[in-house]
Amino acid sequence: MSQIIRTGLIGHPVKHSKSPVLHCHWLKKYNINGTYDLHDTTPEELETKIRTLTDQNYTGFNVTIPYKESIFNLCDTLDDLACTVGAVNTVTVQNGKLHGTNTDVFGFIENFKIETQDFDLTKGPAVILGAGGAAKAVIHGLLIEGVQQIRLLNRTKDKAEALREQTLYPKKISIIEWNKRNDALRDAHVLINTTALGMQGYPDLDISLKHLPPGAAVSDIVYNPLDTGLLQCAKENGYITAPGIGMLIHQARKAFELWHGLLPDVDDSLVRQVTP
Ligand code: ATR
Repeated sequence: MSQIIRTGLIGHPVKHSKSPVLHCHWLKKYNINGTYDLHDTTPEELETKIRTLTDQNYTGFNVTIPYKESIFNLCDTLDDLACTVGAVNTVTVQNGKLHGTNTDVFGFIENFKIETQDFDLTKGPAVILGAGGAAKAVIHGLLIEGVQQIRLLNRTKDKAEALREQTLYPKKISIIEWNKRNDALRDAHVLINTTALGMQGYPDLDISLKHLPPGAAVSDIVYNPLDTGLLQCAKENGYITAPGIGMLIHQARKAFELWHGLLPDVDDSLVRQVTP
């Protein structure tokens, strides 16, 4: 019997996560002797939790809200992508050392392209709500896809300003006050929510799409509920939408590849399990 390959997810809260469904489906499908479990971890417990997983010979783990930035400083090495993005969502453990990378960039772009088909991201400004770890990955993805203008809004403006300075092209990013989010949609081509708003247990995202031009695309990284208030409103008003569950699936595929050496596919049975 081969040695069991242990992986999992650290976050707070994590109980609604669909990551175990994805990873366990692929472990079974590809006949890999492995596990993927949830570790609900408070900020005070984070360092101890990481040491525990390392001591227990975990092969790797994902990191989610709110630790994608704090884990960045706890890794022993970071690949170029994690360094450029400034956030880590996937860690591989080798000889007790933590190697951080970011599979959210791939997850976001792959999902956006599949869901919106021929949508040309470069045709107009993108409005991004939020300036946490997920926003960093989304903004990096948009910049490398050639988006020329990003309007960034965050409840805590200082965080948006700091994020802008860390990106590849700070001049392409303008910071707008959080309470101006309805107006920020004028002439916009894309709207992406990267905040936790709309997620189960969080308040709703309060935004009106009245100024968003027809033909624009709307994406939400929140996937619990699958159909967030933002996505529902966007669909009712005829916008193209890219739901967050797809980003979750595609970032998970890349993480699985790092730990198990094969890029898993997305079959109908998996989609049925995560989108009941
Ligand atoms: P992640 O790493 O998954 O992006 P995060 O770094 O904790 O998680 O970021 C969460 C994002 O949701 C932040 O942009 C946060 O805004 P602040 O920077 O002001 O904290 C945003 N967010 C969370 N709760 C919010 C709320 N009630 N209103 C507005 N924004 C909120």
